[in-house]
Amino acid sequence: MSNAKKPWGGRFESSGDAFAEEFGASLPVDKRMAEQDIRGSIAHARMLAAQGIVPVDEATAIVEGLLQVRAEIESGSFVFDTADEDIHMAVERRLTSIVGNVGGKLHTARSRNDQVALDARLYAKDATLRLVGAGNALRATLIERAGEHMGAVMPGYTHLQKAQPVLLSHHLLAYSWMLSRDITRMRHAFEAADVLPLGSAALAGTTFPLDRQAVADDLGFSAVSANSMDSVSDRDFLLDVTYACAVAQMHLSRLCEELILWSTEEFGFITMDDAWSTGSSIMPQKKNPDFAELVRGKTGRVIGDLTALLVTLKSLPLAYNKDMQEDKEPAFDAIDTLADSLRAVDGMIATMSVNVDVMRQGAGGGFMAATDLADYLAAHGMPFREAHEVVGRLVLACEREGKTLQELSVQDLEDASSVFGSDALEAVDLDKIVARRVTAGGTGHERVAEQLAQAAEALEADVIWLSERSAE
Ligand code: ARG
Repeated sequence: MSNAKKPWGGRFESSGDAFAEEFGASLPVDKRMAEQDIRGSIAHARMLAAQGIVPVDEATAIVEGLLQVRAEIESGSFVFDTADEDIHMAVERRLTSIVGNVGGKLHTARSRNDQVALDARLYAKDATLRLVGAGNALRATLIERAGEHMGAVMPGYTHLQKAQPVLLSHHLLAYSWMLSRDITRMRHAFEAADVLPLGSAALAGTTFPLDRQAVADDLGFSAVSANSMDSVSDRDFLLDVTYACAVAQMHLSRLCEELILWSTEEFGFITMDDAWSTGSSIMPQKKNPDFAELVRGKTGRVIGDLTALLVTLKSLPLAYNKDMQEDKEPAFDAIDTLADSLRAVDGMIATMSVNVDVMRQGAGGGFMAATDLADYLAAHGMPFREAHEVVGRLVLACEREGKTLQELSVQDLEDASSVFGSDALEAVDLDKIVARRVTAGGTGHERVAEQLAQAAEALEADVIWLSERSAE
């Protein structure tokens, strides 16, 4: 049981229970918000002085003390005392030991309820910017690798069965668009966090003449919250960040699943770099895609983080409730897990080698030219349903005879339908199959070249958005 004085000591007759104190603490989790806590306190102290609530010389001493606390935390010399419930108390205790009793004036017109909401918002803003940076980096790598393999043909799948040939670039760019939407969600989460809660005090506002707009300007918030009760109870911005993390992590799990499949001997489409593979302690031949599997596996915990946060907030009455102390752990975990996963996947994609010949060979199988043969008949006037029948019978015959569609002769086609002409074999040519898909967003070479430029342009817009905010 610690002897440290509690901020509520006046009201209490006996000291508490040691385990209750430990059970109630959030310091191990929220100490990572030290920088945000100090930034917020400096802005609050400056405003208190400007408004004449605290004398300027005292506020100056407080700010200097806070700068020293920040330096101690940065250098690692700060001693965290487990008696402190949370980072807010830890910073204030050290501040008071540096500047004396005047440190106690920092908490004028403030509650830990609006303080913790502020710190969490500042943290969420910093974190979303970091995640936008990491997401953009992976997008850039995907776009670069797509640009490297513009002509490479591979099988496209539905139901994990060969469907139609596509360009590898088209496939890689699909993931850049998923990430583009992930960044949009992160940007939204940033904006959700970009509202100042400080000045709401415990729940009802305060009797002191605060200048909340000045604090918002000082800390770079775009707006001041409109309702003090909502403002100390609102954790939607953490839900938004965590949801954005969960969707992005789910996207990464899909990409990793493909990397895992593609690096099997059965597919053989890619070879993962040694740096992103592990061996086996018993089977000397093994090279396992452990890191891709880990990213896929970590998706479970990020989805769990989102669920945990939603359920923690469910049914909470206004305003602050201690349940809300449980908000940070899942949000931080989701942020950390996604940040690491983005970095790992970036490393895997940047270094994997692509076996374009194996992919191309795979694109020749699976009767993937069937749709184009049916399209040929439909384009020559046969109702598509009928064309589907005719080609279906051809596929069945090929399957029985162990032939590919490319091995059919013009005569074979003409025997199947008189609508087939001498040019019908062009329908089954692999490169032409891809080239014919010229609809907007299709896999045709020119469309994919345009798409590559669009993806780069979308990325550039998010890079600019980030640089405008990082400069703040
Ligand atoms: N450690 C608390 C949290 O993380 C800070 C707010 C405490 N407020 C209170 N009234 N107990 O939520």
